[in-house]
Amino acid sequence: MAQSVFDFGMIGLGVMGRNLLLNMADHGFSVIGFDKDNTKTGALESAATAGTTVKGVAELATMVQLLERPRKLMMLVPAGKPVDDVIESLIPLLEKGDVVIDGGNSHYTDTLRRVKYLREKGIHFMGIGVSGGEKGARTGPSIMPGGDQEAYNHVKPMLEAISAKVNGTPCVAYLGKEGAGHYVKMVHNGIEYAIMQLISEAYSLLKLAGLDNDRLHQVFKSWNEGDLQSFLVEITADIFLQKDDKTSNRLVDMISDKAGSKGTGKWTSQDAMELPVAVPVIDSAVALRTLSGYKDERVQAAGLYKSPAGTINTPADTWIQQVHDALHFGIIISYAQGLAMLHQASKELDMQIPLPEAVKVWRGGCIIRSTLLEVYLKAYQAAPELPNILLNKDVAALVENAITNTRAVVAQAAQTGTAAAAIMSSLAYFDAYRTERMPTNLVQAQRDYFGAHTYQRIDVPGSFHTVWGE
Ligand code: 6PG
Repeated sequence: MAQSVFDFGMIGLGVMGRNLLLNMADHGFSVIGFDKDNTKTGALESAATAGTTVKGVAELATMVQLLERPRKLMMLVPAGKPVDDVIESLIPLLEKGDVVIDGGNSHYTDTLRRVKYLREKGIHFMGIGVSGGEKGARTGPSIMPGGDQEAYNHVKPMLEAISAKVNGTPCVAYLGKEGAGHYVKMVHNGIEYAIMQLISEAYSLLKLAGLDNDRLHQVFKSWNEGDLQSFLVEITADIFLQKDDKTSNRLVDMISDKAGSKGTGKWTSQDAMELPVAVPVIDSAVALRTLSGYKDERVQAAGLYKSPAGTINTPADTWIQQVHDALHFGIIISYAQGLAMLHQASKELDMQIPLPEAVKVWRGGCIIRSTLLEVYLKAYQAAPELPNILLNKDVAALVENAITNTRAVVAQAAQTGTAAAAIMSSLAYFDAYRTERMPTNLVQAQRDYFGAHTYQRIDVPGSFHTVWGE
């Protein structure tokens, strides 16, 4: 039998799998990757840093045989059936105690099912969210592991070594039981959708004041040097400068407005409704990507309905500050909704997700990293069981600073007919959340009127039904 030599194995050598393995090798681990495609195994080996131990093989059994026991291996293959297929081909090759990781964007219920299935066979299965794109995988991603603690301990040193660091702290931590890693990654992606939508609305609102791409670049660049400092604002600033290589225009102006999606944002909305927990900014972001695809209908509607005057009278500098505050506010609310979802899921689905750790992991390496998360981390460290971050005093102060300008932006968006669903939705959510008595007493009355659904009273405990209108 061949000698066991490699510390870690990867199944699927697409760009993410290859970059993660190379990252591990750069940190002193000996790694081996499997892909049926010879060009990918070759690309892995030729991209390895000199002096590191990296091998590519085209036979799964060969890779498994060459791994140190207990084996530690990850698959980075498309979510769904491919993950199950890999598991089936691995089972006859593995031994009790081996650790198998799914590092893709799988739905957490699939992960739960796989954890149970493999547990019966004595194999540890972990769902791990990995964020940061191609570059992050190579230089330091944010890593969101869930599963059993024993399995995590086997891979912890490797994951800590390859992850992004914030002030020396690795952006990886044990995030809870079974499907928790993929659940946290799903919610990360929901927040990612929300922030991207908010930024695109800020872009369209800034254009109302006549800002061209150079000015948009400057504005986003300066925002990224202040309290909006984040990966998504940073790349947005860059995007406005990119020239198109086919025309003399900027590339952003040549890109079709139909937005794609792989489904993780939709899952967040669906699962939020299941819990239930309200995440309307994420819902709006998902809905607006969907609406973006209805191009032909939108073109027809644009011909049918006149737009109100699309200009504003506010001086440009004032407007830029107002839009800044509305974006800041929307981002505060997006994180608040996502984290409230994690809080609820942690209890309802018994995942035991430590919120301070989740925020810590999101501070670096991932798509939603931002300096705002430092404030959130402090808040959750002081009160890990906080149901909603909006109840924290420091966050309340940030909201207080941004709220007046957010209202001004929402009013202008409505008056100019500028679609700003996510910004409007963040304000509507906030106004409902801070309302002591919502008008939903009337909803209860209606439900009881037509369906005898009963209601509760404010003065006497119990359930009541009235024969209305008599
Ligand atoms: C990340 C990203 C990454 C990817 C998703 C969402 O954290 O690195 O979230 O996982 O961007 O697949 O992509 P869609 O916009 O296509 O849904």
